[in-house]
Parts: sequence; structure tokens; C-alpha cells
Amino acid sequence: MSAIREVKQRLDIMELVSEYVSLQKSGRSHKGLCPFHSEKHPSFFVFTEQQTWHCFGACGTGGDIFSFVMKKEGVEFGEALRLLAERAGVALSPPQASDKAADEEKEKLFQINEAAAEYYHHLLMNAKAGQAARDYLAGRGVMPETIKEFRLGFSPDAWETVKSYLLEKGYSEKELLEAGLVIERDEGGSYDRFRNRLIFPICDVRGRITGFGARALDDSLPKYINSPQTPVFDKSSGLYGIDRARSAIRKRNAVIIVEGYTDVLAAHQHGWQNVVGSMGTALTEKQVAAVRGLTGRITLALDADLAGEEATLRGRAILSHSDAEAEVIVLPSGKDPDEVIRENAGLWAKLVEQPMPILDFVFQSVTSKVDITRAKDKSLAVQKLLPSLLEIRDPAQRYHYAEKLARAVKIKVPDVQAALEKLRAESKRRRPARATEQTRLARRLVSSPLEEYCLALLLQYPELRSAAQELSPEHFECTENREVFDRWQHYSGMAELESGFDASLQEHLYSLVGKTFPPAIRDSEGARQRDLADCILRLQERSFRKSETEKQTILEVERERGGTSSELSKLEEQGIHSGQRLQEVFIKKGRKLWNQ
Ligand code: UTP
Ligand code: MN
Repeated sequence: MSAIREVKQRLDIMELVSEYVSLQKSGRSHKGLCPFHSEKHPSFFVFTEQQTWHCFGACGTGGDIFSFVMKKEGVEFGEALRLLAERAGVALSPPQASDKAADEEKEKLFQINEAAAEYYHHLLMNAKAGQAARDYLAGRGVMPETIKEFRLGFSPDAWETVKSYLLEKGYSEKELLEAGLVIERDEGGSYDRFRNRLIFPICDVRGRITGFGARALDDSLPKYINSPQTPVFDKSSGLYGIDRARSAIRKRNAVIIVEGYTDVLAAHQHGWQNVVGSMGTALTEKQVAAVRGLTGRITLALDADLAGEEATLRGRAILSHSDAEAEVIVLPSGKDPDEVIRENAGLWAKLVEQPMPILDFVFQSVTSKVDITRAKDKSLAVQKLLPSLLEIRDPAQRYHYAEKLARAVKIKVPDVQAALEKLRAESKRRRPARATEQTRLARRLVSSPLEEYCLALLLQYPELRSAAQELSPEHFECTENREVFDRWQHYSGMAELESGFDASLQEHLYSLVGKTFPPAIRDSEGARQRDLADCILRLQERSFRKSETEKQTILEVERERGGTSSELSKLEEQGIHSGQRLQEVFIKKGRKLWNQ
């Protein structure tokens, strides 16, 4: 069983919440003063049967034990899981170790990774089963020298290949698990994580292998699987190829950051050795810090279609480092560096020679989209650009761009500066808020097949995205599903989806992406559309039904307590509202609510 489920099974929400809130029995639920906002009359309820909580007051939100801890402690899912797992006595991998033991542990992991990489590489170069992978690389123009330099590998289509090899070499199953090379089965035992894939060993700047990326050899999903978070691997802080690029970055005093593994291979193969890969995640400060030691000139290669947004987001990580110079190159629409370099190396050379300062680019892309004669557009442009200005540390530069913004939207420089000060004050005050707290009450669930089926459809068939507009995170009762859905709403690439997830959520994500559908679904887009529509209706039905029952429970309690008539009628109104929404769902489903 997954750690998430085990924790849910072992802990009781009443016990947990009682530590923060003094609760009184009230009908079939318990109530108390909401711990998340200040109030005089209790509007915070805990439903023991469903193992959920809900605030009917100012918060208007609720959820399960995970969301309670997330909100109460102001932490992300991973940290909440750790806290609760400790409480429940559920072991999470990797375990915490003391410093010296931790160093030894890391050393061991590097060793295992090294042995695994060597084995994968050997199979790619020599094994009969590796032929398809060799053909694949040849078809993509990857030369044997590049394969050797990057020590690419191949993992066969079997469950226990690297596992048996490494066990035979004397490593323990526990160590393999820790390295993320095998995955634990619910019922015990383990199997190879990477199967029938092309293997990209990922190194730190010293050339030690921290983890792996693994590409499918066909169109199957996910396209890439990566090592989970381990004591030596954190995808969001590493840069692919940094070990091979280090000396060139120093020598040329510049680094070019691309996204993909294959982009890095193509660049190096064609003579651009100062190129590293961000592995699909939005550039993080940790990644920037890793190259800052080598150079202050950072160039991002951006996809034309997303360039504006990306530059804004990614630029911030760079700009917040005082003296780094950030520039961008914008690729032709729909092309990644790998394609550009292979199809037209001259064009790539030209692009690389003429990068644009990232802020100029951000300005250009925002202001080119607005009509500054319209007041609304003006303030939109200011809103979009201010956060980037805020990141500029150097006062002279900041003034330069404040002026530029003022000119672009025809307002006064002091007004821009005032707005900037206001934003600065606000961002200091605001604590990072989670977007996902809007959960509804959940039954005592350790998993929800309906939610998981729906998510698997959405994750595996991107064309369904537009059909899922009516769904919101609160339709998902299990926090792990809600987290996945919430991220899916914001990001479509697997890399973006999984980055920032801790190992348990990553496992969960992979299990959803790996779910197989019956042929009827696989072969027909129409069937998928219908299936999804049905899932959505069922999720909506469930959510309205629940909120209706809850409203009634509360109403009964309030009546007994002798609540004021305005309180009662407010609740009644809310009850009627959810009843109506439920009715709409039923009409859509071609059924009637009260079997008239
Ligand atoms: P891309 O989808 O652009 O892949 O993702 P790519 O590198 O161009 O691969 P090819 O050319 O199709 O073979 C960019 C990067 O995002 C990460 C990988 O690091 C990838 O190289 N990624 C992408 C993942 O980690 N998981 C995914 O499922 C997809
Ligand atoms: Mn590509």
C-alpha cells in the first residue's frame, strides 16, 4: 500500500484536529472555533464518519487530514505527509539520517548509480535487445561519440534486469529502492523502474551520477520518466550536462540553457559545449545558483509559442541573483533546439550570437499584446511587468526599466515607482498561499477509483483538456488526486507536472499515467470524450450530493441550538442552491431527481 493510503488509514481526524481546536459533539459531527480565522460562534466542523473537516464560516473550505495540516502548518503536501507519517509510524523513504551516515549513504548511492549506468550503457552498445534503441538514436542523428560521451544507455523490456544485476553485485534491495532504480510493490517485493527505455544518466557538476532520465522508444506515455527525489537527486536543482559543459562555460564565460536532454546532446555534438538542460522544469533559483559559480552570462533558449510567459517566469530566478546578466534567444515557432541545430545549424549560430536582454524581451512581448490607448490594457501591462521590475536589484537598471515601462504605457515614472513600492510591501506581507485549499468534504477514503480514472484519462489524452473546464480541484476529495489535478490545470508537460512533487506524489502520478485503458477507449477519441463527460457528471453529482447532506446536518444542529432566523435561512438557501445544482446534473444525465 502506498504511504499516503497507509497514513490515511492509521490516523483519526478527530484526534489530530483536537490538538488544535477544542471540539464539542454536535449531532453526528463535532464543532469548534475555526483555527484558520477568528470567530465568536463555532463554524468549524469535523465529520468523523467521513474523516473530513469543513469551515462553514469565512473560510468556506475543508478537506482531509492532509489539507488540514497543510493549511495549519503552512506547508506543502510533501511536508504534511512527512509530519503525518511520523505521527502514524509509517516509514517514508528516504529516511532521515545523521550527517556522517548521510554522507556515506550518498556515496553509496553514487556508486549504485555508477554501476547501473555502466550496465545500461553496456546493454545499449552490445545487447541484441538494444538494437531498437541503437536504431532510434541513429535515426535521430546521435553519433556514437556522443552516446559514449554522455554514457547513454538502454533498459530492457523486463521487470527485473538491472535489479538482478545489482543484487548480484552485492547491493541490497533497500539500497536500490533508495536510489530509485526499483519501485516497491504494494504486496512486497520490487521491480525495475526503467523498462524498455533509453537512459540518460544525470550528473552533478563533479560528474557523479545523481539520477536518470529515461525516454520511451515510441509514443508511449510518459515520454520521460525520471528518478524520484533521493538524497542525491533533486530534479529541480540539477542541470543536465553540467559536468560536460563546465569547462566550456568557464572558457566562453557564458551558458545557454535549453530544456531537453536531446537538445543538450545535439548542441554538444555540433560544437556548442556550453549548453545545459533544465530538464523541462521552469528554471529554479537553485539551477541558476549552480551555473552562477561558472559564469554571470546566462542565455535561455525559449520556445516561440510560450516565450513571453516563460521568459517572465524563468527570468525571475535569474534576475534575483544580483549581477547575473540574463538574455534569451527565441526559437522558430514549434521547434526545439535539437531540431533547429540539426536542420539549420547556421540559424542556431545566428540566434546564439544575438540574444536579447530578458527584460527587453519580456517588455516587448507584454506591450506588443496590449493597446495602450485603452485604460484596461494599460493597467494590465503594468500589472504583468511590475513583478519582473521588482526582481531587479540594481537601482540604475531598475530605473531604466521603470522609465521604459512609463514610456511604453504613457504614464509618469513616479507612478510606476509608487506602484512598485506598493507591490514590494504587499509581497513582504503575503505568505505563500496554496491555490488548492478549496476542497469539499471527503468520505473516509483511502483512494477513489472514479477520481483516479478521470485523472488517468486527462493525463494520458491531452486532447481532453478543453472538455474538463467544468472540473475544479474541489471535485477531488483525496488530497493526492487534488494536488495532481491542480498541477495538471496549470501545466501540461510531464516535467512541469512532476517537478515540485515529492516522491510519494510522483509515484502516484506515474501510477495514473501508467493506467491502461480497454481497447474501446484506446482506439476511439469519441469514446474517450463520452467517458470523460460521464466521469465529470459523476464527480459533480457526488460533490453536490455531499454538500447538500452537509448543509442539512448543519441546519439540524443550528435548529436544535436555537440559531437566529437569519443564520437558519442562510443555511437553507445554501441547501436549496446545492439541491438545484444537483438537479441540473441529473437532468444532464437524463434522469430525474425525485423519480416523479
Ligand atoms: P520535451 O517534451 O521537449 O522533450 O521535454 P525533448 O527533450 O524534446 O525530447 P524528444 O526530442 O521528444 O525526445 C523537455 C524535457 O522535459 C523533461 C525532460 O527533461 C525533457 O528532455 N520531461 C519531458 C520530463 O522529465 N518528463 C516528460 O514526460 C517530458
Ligand atoms: Mn525534442
